[in-house]
Amino acid sequence: MDLGIAGKLAIVTACSGGLGDAVARSLAAEGVHLALFARSEARLRANAVEIQRRYNVRVVPVVGDMRSRDDVENLVAIVEREFGGPDILVLNTGRPPLPTRDVLEETDDDRWEQAYRTQLWAAILVARRVTPLLVRRGWGRVIAITSASVKQPMPNHGLSTIFRAGVTGLMKHIANEVASKGVTVNTVCPASIVTDSLERTYDLSERVKHIPVGRLGRPEELAATVTFLASEYAGFITGTSIHVEGGMVASLL
Ligand SMILES: NC(=O)c1ccc[n+]([C@@H]2O[C@H](COP(=O)([O-])OP(=O)(O)OC[C@H]3O[C@@H](n4cnc5c(N)ncnc54)[C@H](OP(=O)(O)O)[C@@H]3O)[C@@H](O)[C@H]2O)c1
Repeated sequence: MDLGIAGKLAIVTACSGGLGDAVARSLAAEGVHLALFARSEARLRANAVEIQRRYNVRVVPVVGDMRSRDDVENLVAIVEREFGGPDILVLNTGRPPLPTRDVLEETDDDRWEQAYRTQLWAAILVARRVTPLLVRRGWGRVIAITSASVKQPMPNHGLSTIFRAGVTGLMKHIANEVASKGVTVNTVCPASIVTDSLERTYDLSERVKHIPVGRLGRPEELAATVTFLASEYAGFITGTSIHVEGGMVASLL
């Protein structure tokens, strides 16, 4: 199935590994050119070379921190110069601080600040700068990666739920503001998708017992959902959240 996005340019944030990297590769497999944005220069450059070689698309690595306005400005300047502007924005972010705790045990203001800046402020900075560039082109896709915890809060995960709910609100507002301009805005909400950092953080053998499909998720499964939302076919889907979590969320909708 040709998703109709070959030749477009996607900015993928927080993509030196894990889900962001999987999304970048999935888009590249559709012929989408990439601007990769994260802080780890060596990993980003190595990924860019490999993706470019494997999928024959242009890949520009941009080293920077999503929480920095200057770094976001640098990202935009490079994308404008190299590609004339973006068509797709995949808004992935870093994780909340570890270890996870109950909200009332979160008494360290620095952890709240870190959780806010990494997940919500970073998303605000990038989304408000890049989305108008999609509107200018009259076609665009914004997809934010949040967490299934926005639908069903998980114990000890307040510093994720609270700020990712903020990202969900941010995306819904922007979706409404740009709906008539050819730009769709959605979120994808993962849980229990195996990445290196998830394996380092949790006892996954225990977690799998709570997943109805009976297994953990694969990054490619999350990435395929994002890629479909980025496609020409998803033009009538906006302002919504799609869960990729093996049936773990117990709510009706
Ligand atoms: N895996 C799951 O099942 C799951 C479930 C719920 C939510 N999530 C969320 O989905 C996101 C991706 O998950 P993951 O498992 O792939 O996480 P991960 O392996 O920890 O990857 C996070 C990525 O974010 C980048 N990053 C962190 N802070 C950044 C910053 N300030 N500016 C730019 N890039 C930054 C990291 O690269 P650098 O260090 O190079 O910057 C890394 O590439 C996370 O926010 C995670 O909390 C994942």
